[in-house]
Amino acid sequence: MKVEASAPAKVILVGEHFVVENEPAIACAVELRAHVTVEDGYDDILLSSQNFGSSIKLSIKGDILDGRENLKIFEPLLRIDRILRRMTDFKGGYKLEVNSSIPPASGMGSSAAVAVATVAAVSKIMGLELDLEEISKIAYEAEKIVHGSPSGIDNTIATYGGIIVFRKSEGFIRLEADFSKVMLIVADSGLPRNTGKMVRKVKNLKNKYPRVFEPLYHTAGRLAIEAAQAIRDGRFHDLGELMNVNHGLLSAIGVSNRKLEEMVYTAREAGALGAKITGAGGGGSIVVLTTKEDSLRVSKALKKISRRVYVLNIAEKGVVVL
Ligand code: MEV
Repeated sequence: MKVEASAPAKVILVGEHFVVENEPAIACAVELRAHVTVEDGYDDILLSSQNFGSSIKLSIKGDILDGRENLKIFEPLLRIDRILRRMTDFKGGYKLEVNSSIPPASGMGSSAAVAVATVAAVSKIMGLELDLEEISKIAYEAEKIVHGSPSGIDNTIATYGGIIVFRKSEGFIRLEADFSKVMLIVADSGLPRNTGKMVRKVKNLKNKYPRVFEPLYHTAGRLAIEAAQAIRDGRFHDLGELMNVNHGLLSAIGVSNRKLEEMVYTAREAGALGAKITGAGGGGSIVVLTTKEDSLRVSKALKKISRRVYVLNIAEKGVVVL
């Protein structure tokens, strides 16, 4: 049997970092997808990634037979294998291939999309019928290996798709919205960054100045609620303004840099409604909201100073199994 699953990339419209400390945040899935293909009928576990050009081979018990140097890349997928095996009688091996169109380390949730698609495909091969909540939960365990102590927003949006308001202690609600008059542009700085490291950096600063940071976190939470209302009402000028304020808060907590500021101001000067860091910052990408009419001018201006620029549609579908 051969199973293919895919899951979408994401952008965080407002609230990254603050979401780690239980403030609400808004994420939306976008149409770049990670594809995972799994085939059973093998004696061992063979994992390969077209994106990293690397592979690893393990026995069903988990002993590494080949490609030990790639263990770090595949550790999250092995964690998924171990969790799923505990839930089933499946005793066989399989061959798994990752092929993702989401640039890694760019703040677009590539690791979460790969983890979600892997859980969906491998669980099918093992004869399990998981619901979306279980898929997201198991993918979260893999995310912990990659990012330390993530909020869970990335695996949630990759599983469910659409636009969500997420809060760590409460889960998520879906936002119904009409984005047909506006465009989302993601520009990748090409500077790699490490989410776990950025989250720890912010935490340290917050612990040092708790009385300064607490109001900032409270403001970010209020901002996410206002932004959700603006999205629901189709008030995209307001959403853009709130994204700009959110970027200011992200700069305040120390996750911006000269390159990201240059990109954000380039987008705004070219007519964007709003522009901000998306994801952990320190590198990675910015997300820009524009009207349809201004999108070409904004993306052209960003192309001159960014590694890659994507004009993206919202992905209504989360994880899909073929
Ligand atoms: C998630 O893409 C970015 C952070 O908010 C970390 C998290 O929520 O786990 C920085």
